Amino acid sequence: MSVYKGEVCALPPDKSISHRAALIGSIAEGATEISNFSGGFDNQSTLGVLQACGIDIRQETVPGVNGTATRKVVMHSGGLWSFTKPEQQLMCNNSGSTMRMFAGILAAQPFESTLVGDSSLMKRPMKRVADPLRLMGAEVNLSPDNTAPVVIKGMKALHPIHYELPVPSAQVKSLVTFAALHTEGESRIIESLPSRNHTELMLGLQVEGLSDGRQEVVVPGRLTIPAKPFHVPGDPSAACFIIALGLLSQGSEILLRDVCLNPTRTGYIDILAGAGAGISLENIRLTGGEKIGDILVRYSPFMKPLRISDPAVVANIIDEIPMLAVLSACATNEFELHHAAELRAKESDRISALVYNLEQLGFICDEFTDGFAVTAKDTVPTGKVSIESYSDHRIAMGFAIADKVLPTELGIADAGIIGVSFPNFFEIIENLAH
Ligand code: S3P
Repeated sequence: MSVYKGEVCALPPDKSISHRAALIGSIAEGATEISNFSGGFDNQSTLGVLQACGIDIRQETVPGVNGTATRKVVMHSGGLWSFTKPEQQLMCNNSGSTMRMFAGILAAQPFESTLVGDSSLMKRPMKRVADPLRLMGAEVNLSPDNTAPVVIKGMKALHPIHYELPVPSAQVKSLVTFAALHTEGESRIIESLPSRNHTELMLGLQVEGLSDGRQEVVVPGRLTIPAKPFHVPGDPSAACFIIALGLLSQGSEILLRDVCLNPTRTGYIDILAGAGAGISLENIRLTGGEKIGDILVRYSPFMKPLRISDPAVVANIIDEIPMLAVLSACATNEFELHHAAELRAKESDRISALVYNLEQLGFICDEFTDGFAVTAKDTVPTGKVSIESYSDHRIAMGFAIADKVLPTELGIADAGIIGVSFPNFFEIIENLAH
């Protein structure tokens, strides 16, 4: 087994911020320059649908730090209504963020459009998209089981809305925000469990705390958004897999540079630190409203099992649960998760996917409706174990890390899906291996 040492300077640019920078650029007035844009398939899908709706976008490769190559995106728009009716269905591939957030903008365009995706995305819930947009006056049709295709008959005169999110979802918060920007009048979006807040930060929107602990995003209508440059920091949800590798591999020490440390994204770092992981933050600063810094991790042989049951914590770590589950199982043979039913609606049913694959590795699991537990490890299987990624990048990455740290050899089906968010995943691991 290898020791992993060194610095990571080419972490994938944050997926959530890349999507939002492109979407905001498409409704801003003027030329938007986005440095360090993600080359992940999901973010490229967002650029693809924007181009299919007439937005002029150019991508170029520019040198980054330590000999790395980064992407610069330059896009031009005339403001909120700069889109043209697409000639074909808009293909979002695997990207739920593309489909859901762009739906908010399409709802305000005076034409009909249809959003489709790959077989995983076509199974994901879209009623949460249709409900607020219908209340705002758009006509949205879904298939009978409330999944895509999402057919939107947009209209320019959408109504403002006061909307309480039925599920903690930054995608839904953002799609309502994007739609609300096009209305005449103020909208308010209420969330009881705070979700990632990049859209609010990037648009400079006011967020008010309510007396009962909920919070409200205030969206002024018909906002003129002047184009401004964005820089995308490293993705903490990608970093977490490299962090797990460092924590689990004897003798390892890894420094991850320039990672987004927005507190709505770093719940997993607090959980790891609380469980005895050797993890610390360095060189913290604020860039473009986002907290950024470096993460140092060291091999940590005495971590405690992770037990997660607070719904507010779950909302904050939703994308990192596959990593936390695999890490806790590999380090301690134990893990416990509750109040995470939303995990069943991700790129795969992540509760079933984690339980199935952990059981292949000999872990004893107990599956609940809203979570699961790992209680022990049985006989370690002999020979190569097949892992089913369910075409889900985070399941594939979680078990690719298990492959590096467990004595069992794993074969991961459809590992290419990792390119959805982390195209240089194996290259980074190889460069760190000693
Ligand atoms: C995202 C929000 C989360 C997350 C997804 C990205 C975003 O989804 O799982 O990977 O960028 O807003 P939900 O909004 O469905 O919770």
